Amino acid sequence: MKCVKVPLTELNDTRIKLMENGQMSMDFKIKAEKEYGYIPITEDIDGYEIVDIELEEIKRVAHNFSELLEDELTSTEIEDLRTSFDTIGDVVILEIPDNLKDKKQKIGDAALRFTKRRSIYMKKSAVKGTTRVRELEFLSGEDNPVTIHKEHGTRLKLNVKEMYFSPRLATERKRVMESVRDGERILDMFCGIGPFPIVIARNHEVDITAVDINSQAIKYLNENIRLNKLKGTIRTYCGDVRDVSKQFNSKFDRIIMNLPGLAYTFLDVSFDLIEDGGIINYYEFSDSYEQGISRLKEACLKQDKKVEILNTRKVKSTSPGEWHIAIDAKVSEAKN
Ligand SMILES: C[S@@+](CC[C@H](N)C(=O)[O-])C[C@H]1O[C@@H](n2cnc3c(N)ncnc32)[C@H](O)[C@@H]1O
Repeated sequence: MKCVKVPLTELNDTRIKLMENGQMSMDFKIKAEKEYGYIPITEDIDGYEIVDIELEEIKRVAHNFSELLEDELTSTEIEDLRTSFDTIGDVVILEIPDNLKDKKQKIGDAALRFTKRRSIYMKKSAVKGTTRVRELEFLSGEDNPVTIHKEHGTRLKLNVKEMYFSPRLATERKRVMESVRDGERILDMFCGIGPFPIVIARNHEVDITAVDINSQAIKYLNENIRLNKLKGTIRTYCGDVRDVSKQFNSKFDRIIMNLPGLAYTFLDVSFDLIEDGGIINYYEFSDSYEQGISRLKEACLKQDKKVEILNTRKVKSTSPGEWHIAIDAKVSEAKN
């Protein structure tokens, strides 16, 4: 590091002068030895002895995300970005609005420093297609989409680029887990990497059948079964649940249907497979509960069953006025 070398007696005055002239580097510490002091500089300066020696770097710890970006963005823009963070294990996924896309690299680097996670990605598309995966663009840190997410005492390994997972459903998973009783036979029709089955089987002696059409998700679920200490058992199947379920030869006390855009199109399958008095944990995207409740009632009528709505709740907001909603329904034979 280039420094001005001055006798110790002149160190303070020189420091003040160089600082006032904007010639002192603020990124390194001044060094004082027996007779001389060394002041880091940003440019060659006439009239002083200039030497090149090693100086200790000043580590600046940014206090928060706003501080890292305050020269770039307004406080509202920073706040909006901060609420878009999804942290999945070592990975952070950001939603950057179109008007800030030209600053995505700075935002990604700031997120890396602020969160101290390993990898920062940016959402490039909505969740889409049958497997409900979104495109991601790598921004900062290490480009490695495989991570282990910890949730309610479980370890969930996944590849954020190849399969669906949302940490925002953690509370919902806990709620469902807490409503399960030991001994239940459970079907998760759209299990993904298995967050519902894993958290339930970790806490209850249950028998879970987990199905997903995404072979990569099932590969990670099989690994997650090994990664966690489970009280219950989980059997996995890869394929379209409409086809795969034809091989099931017993009914289920509970069926989880977390495919909110299309779950209603599988109600005929779940009503075939539900035990008399069993519970369906049904999800859909809607601005109200009415649509889901009438879909459940309609499906019941078709199969000569009756439905009792036990509970409804908003899981998370998906867009202004629209929610990922949950309906817990008890399904019984109409004759009872
Ligand atoms: C919204 S994700 C939910 C995953 C998981 N339940 C969770 O909470 O993370 C829906 C899942 O359904 C799967 N899927 C979509 N259509 C399917 C089908 N016909 N049969 C089985 N799985 C399907 C997708 O691959 C995806 O993993």
